[in-house]
Amino acid sequence: MDIQQKIEKIKEEIKVFDATSDYELESFRIKFLGKKNGILTFLFKELKKFSIQDKKYFGKIINNLKKQVTEKIQLKKLKQQKNIPHFDPTLPGIYKEIGSMHPISILIHRIIELFSKIGFSVVEGPEIEDDWHNFTALNIPPEHPSREMQDTFFLYNNTDSLLRTHTSSVQIRYMKKHVPPFRIISLGKVYRNETISTHSHFMFHQAEGFYIDKKVTFLDLKQTILYLIHSIFGDITKVRFRPSYFPFTEPSAEVDIYFGKTMGWIEIMGCGMIDPKVLKNVNIDSEIYSGFAFGIGIERLSILIYKINDIRIYFENDMNFLRHFQSEF
Ligand code: DAH
Repeated sequence: MDIQQKIEKIKEEIKVFDATSDYELESFRIKFLGKKNGILTFLFKELKKFSIQDKKYFGKIINNLKKQVTEKIQLKKLKQQKNIPHFDPTLPGIYKEIGSMHPISILIHRIIELFSKIGFSVVEGPEIEDDWHNFTALNIPPEHPSREMQDTFFLYNNTDSLLRTHTSSVQIRYMKKHVPPFRIISLGKVYRNETISTHSHFMFHQAEGFYIDKKVTFLDLKQTILYLIHSIFGDITKVRFRPSYFPFTEPSAEVDIYFGKTMGWIEIMGCGMIDPKVLKNVNIDSEIYSGFAFGIGIERLSILIYKINDIRIYFENDMNFLRHFQSEF
């Protein structure tokens, strides 16, 4: 093979060369530019034997080939660097905070799960309500003193547009549109303008339950509440139904749980048999149907479960607090 043929062969080989590893790249370099046996190194040595004219002519070509080889190697190395992100194993790892369910959401899910098991369906209602759904239909007429029990946020200076003060409004919305029997649970935010309050930020969560059918009695109510409390606080928890007053239930009761000698009885929710006047407002015949309803404050329930003394902690986004609930869900 004469020098011209050799050059053509080398040219072709450089052109088609492709490397996927460092090892292949290094072998390629050694093959052509290796100090001892590199093909181009050898050709440079051979040049000595050529005439001055050929030396000039082939020298240029071989130099060019050398340039091609080095450029190809450099290019491949650059590409590799781009593909492999720079990794320094001595650097500390990048810590990623893992999010978790908020304790209030955990409890909301738990309540939904418990009531699903006994045939309750979940419905939602709007947070912006009108007077009729939030008050009047629930047997709380204008000027009724019990409106003062729930200090209301009105919107746009309009007394008919307000932030719901309780989830009981969902009772009205649902009952108006559906024919009994039904068992419903509704959970969500409610708003009250209370300055001296165990609630924070004028917003808290409630769960509202109601059940209407033929022959629903106070016994059904009691059993449902006992099921809820015993599921959450344990079977031996002492529960007390204390006569109370709500405009939308008759009779009404407040439910207390016994938390031992130091804490004593603590109120956790309100309930009662839905007042026939309320049923009338939503066109349900109280001669045929009866029902019960109850309302629970979620934050309140949650502080009792976790023995937390300041409710504001739920809204402070304090990771040290929230992290405690990571394993709960
Ligand atoms: N709506 C009441 C409140 O926010 C709670 C309540 C009491 C709801 C008795 C009920 C009930 O459904 O029967 O204070």
